[in-house]
Amino acid sequence: MFRKRLCVISLVLLLVLTGCGKGGEEKGDTRLVLGFSQIGSESAWRIGNTRDIEEQAAAYGIGLMLENANQKQENQIAAIRRFIAYKVDAIVFSPVVEEGWDNVLLEAKDAGIPVILVDRDINTEQEGLTTCLIGADFYKEGVMAAEYLIRKADSLGLEHVNIVEITGTEHSTPMRQRQAGFMDTIAGDPRMNVLESIDGDFLKSRGAECMRYYLQKYGDTIDIVFSHNDEMTIGALPEIEKAGLVPGRDIIIISIDGGQEAIDVLKEGKINCVVECTPKLGKELMETAIKLKNGEKVEPVIHPVEQVFSDEINVSAIAPRGY
Ligand code: AHR
Repeated sequence: MFRKRLCVISLVLLLVLTGCGKGGEEKGDTRLVLGFSQIGSESAWRIGNTRDIEEQAAAYGIGLMLENANQKQENQIAAIRRFIAYKVDAIVFSPVVEEGWDNVLLEAKDAGIPVILVDRDINTEQEGLTTCLIGADFYKEGVMAAEYLIRKADSLGLEHVNIVEITGTEHSTPMRQRQAGFMDTIAGDPRMNVLESIDGDFLKSRGAECMRYYLQKYGDTIDIVFSHNDEMTIGALPEIEKAGLVPGRDIIIISIDGGQEAIDVLKEGKINCVVECTPKLGKELMETAIKLKNGEKVEPVIHPVEQVFSDEINVSAIAPRGY
């Protein structure tokens, strides 16, 4: 354990001291070092996001001190304190939950280190703790999921729609915003009836547990599952099949992320709709970090453009997703 930790620290020091392998293919000679606290490895999305940020850092010749917080806020706070001690050029982090960051971010501010939020947001009363947010418009993703549902209910001629929701991590931005976007959009449709919402923590195993619970409680009265990420959706599908129901036909399945595995299942017809949430935020992140280093102004919020993959389109034409 100790040896492993030592190895990670040595690697980090090596990266910092060598300027992180600046080579022929770099896009700039910036000598910038970012401290990046990633949430964990809970999903294919998260793994793809980490890989993209690592690849883009290498492409731009930017040093990356990467720490995986294993889903724990205290690990992220400790990592941010280490980045402050190392005097990185900017701190980047994807907050597991929205609250509880003020103290450590005030420390970063006092040290004069800019903070870039990637993927998720924080909730604070304090001004100027972060410079910008690069991440999806989660509210819009919820809206797009609900708009699909309304169109689907119209096309099937449904008069009453019983919905169960498997949400992402409680108190996280995607959980709050996806739920808000979805609920606000169906609010005006009298056919829509939400039976229950449960926290699936963005995990496949929790998706399966939530689905088992829903099937025991509501049986075949469930018309649709709205799941906040592909991982939980993939966990839920076998439970539906074990209950003798056909996902995609007996129960409409709506997911978010758009990773390759879910797109393959969409093509099989067991998922009806996947709203895209791209993990490819690395390029925008590197460009933003360089601008900050050069004292240039940056946009406070940068959202990537995202689309909807569903049984309404020619799914065979969907290009490989890369995550
Ligand atoms: O914050 C983005 C969400 O976090 C993705 O939808 C999910 O898969 C990930 O774990």
